[in-house]
Amino acid sequence: MNPVKPKSWTEELAHDHAQLGHLLSRVRQLVVTENREARDRSLGTLLTALTIEVREHMEFEEHDGYLAPVQQRVPEKAATIEQLRGEHDVLQSQLARILADATVRPGVYAFSEEISPQVLQWIDRMRNHERRENQLVQDAFNRDISAGD
Ligand SMILES: [Fe+2]
Repeated sequence: MNPVKPKSWTEELAHDHAQLGHLLSRVRQLVVTENREARDRSLGTLLTALTIEVREHMEFEEHDGYLAPVQQRVPEKAATIEQLRGEHDVLQSQLARILADATVRPGVYAFSEEISPQVLQWIDRMRNHERRENQLVQDAFNRDISAGD
């Protein structure tokens, strides 16, 4: 029997990013949908799922130090790495704020006029953060391959 090959760090990160991207698309879809009742009904569930997913994802990236395998390969990018790490706290507290603003009473959530633009802005910030992180990871691991030539 073939043992299951453990996933590499980059594979796990890519999988995580894909899963998060899918959830972000679902949340965006909800914001632009016109059925108000459906929107309010799913809002709390999706925002809660997003909060958990984002926290777990960021914990994975911060495990053993933030993006440790990247830091080892591109130590000269320390400033970029530090900036991206700092964004984790900001993004998480912004999301917590959105969830709080959307809470009418415990277990009941609703869109207000302010929530939709807030959610869309947050999704853009999150995607932008992810894009820069992916770029950094790609740079670090491309260099690794060419250094091995
Ligand atoms: Fe991140």
